[in-house]
Amino acid sequence: MLRGKHILLGITGSIAAYKAAMLCRLLKTAGAEVKVVMTPTAKEFITPLTMATLSKNPIAVEFYNPENGDWHSHISMGEWADCFVIAPATANTIAKMAHGIADNLLLTTYLSARCRTIVAPAMDCDMFAHVTTQQNIATLKEHGVVIVDSPAGELASGLLGKGRMAEPEQIVGIIEHVVSEKKKRDLDGRRLIVTAGATIEAIDPVRFISNHSTGKMGYAIAEALAQRGAKVTLVSGRTALAAPTDVERIDVVSAEDMYRAVVERFDDVDGAIMCAAVADYTPKEVSALKIKKGDDDLRIELRRTKDIAAELGRTKGNRLLAGFALESHDGEAHARRKLHDKNFDFIVLNSLQDEGAGFGVDTNKVTFIDADGKESLPLMTKREVADRIADRVEKFFAKR
Ligand code: C5P
Repeated sequence: MLRGKHILLGITGSIAAYKAAMLCRLLKTAGAEVKVVMTPTAKEFITPLTMATLSKNPIAVEFYNPENGDWHSHISMGEWADCFVIAPATANTIAKMAHGIADNLLLTTYLSARCRTIVAPAMDCDMFAHVTTQQNIATLKEHGVVIVDSPAGELASGLLGKGRMAEPEQIVGIIEHVVSEKKKRDLDGRRLIVTAGATIEAIDPVRFISNHSTGKMGYAIAEALAQRGAKVTLVSGRTALAAPTDVERIDVVSAEDMYRAVVERFDDVDGAIMCAAVADYTPKEVSALKIKKGDDDLRIELRRTKDIAAELGRTKGNRLLAGFALESHDGEAHARRKLHDKNFDFIVLNSLQDEGAGFGVDTNKVTFIDADGKESLPLMTKREVADRIADRVEKFFAKR
């Protein structure tokens, strides 16, 4: 299963580093090609000579060789690898990985690697049990990193507890599983629009009307759909987020801009997920000059914007159309009315009253509503909600 596979082995400064030698041997015996990247501290625990001899490749520790300037590219190692396994992984490295710190070659490689990463923690039992370490491990899991369970047993300190590095044989089994995992690409060939973020309605050259949407939910949906093979066009209002990999992003400002960008592309796609927080009203007139303050109150007259979702609902035919409802009260009744009025195939309801749901946060608590009924999900990350939405999108196309 591992024959010809490229395994990048990361070693950090833990007593368990000696087990990395065994792991490397097992991988080589199974036919894998192995390259090793070590943190500077790891060299104190196991020598580069040992690892170079076992892997039959030079070891990368520093960004460059000070003697001849030879550059170790973290990007090329990340591209080369089918799987990056960090074993042993110290509490320090796990914490840095969870927070995007990149102060050595191993960490820059992790940040730039596109392959799956497996982490086998190794540390003292109290460090392992510390709430910070557990939070960092949870963060890595959320980011898609596979964490190898740390068995309880005798530790180098003489203490008994959880924190030992898993045995190399077990880690090989997990590597085999990860590299043989077939990517789910059930949306291959589907073209989808996702709207996300907040629109901005100008009052004058300085002021505007907008809302608290950060775009996190819509961007997570675009990423989930693209990862399943869909060709995604993300029509995005204001957000601080970067476009997900393999997603075409069209930036728009106002509700009118978003309307035009979406409507003109709708003929060429198989469906749209409407996640943007579109302004319902926009100033009737935009002042070309900055409005000066006076002693009196100021009245700004607003007019209705076009409802993009409703317009697509009128012309959708057998294409997919799904949207969101963010409600502060009577959520289900309002969501059902929108499902009908906008001709959505399903609507995702989130309530402003649910803790951990709504603007800015990374979690959401949603209920799916469609013609067949409703399904309430527990609190989960926006990325997990996005995957559940992608499941529904897949089901829609499978039925057609
Ligand atoms: O009517 P309401 O704004 O609550 O509907 C929310 C749903 O409609 C969301 O999916 C939102 O993206 C979409 N919508 C739209 N164009 C508008 C207003 C809302 O596409 N002008």
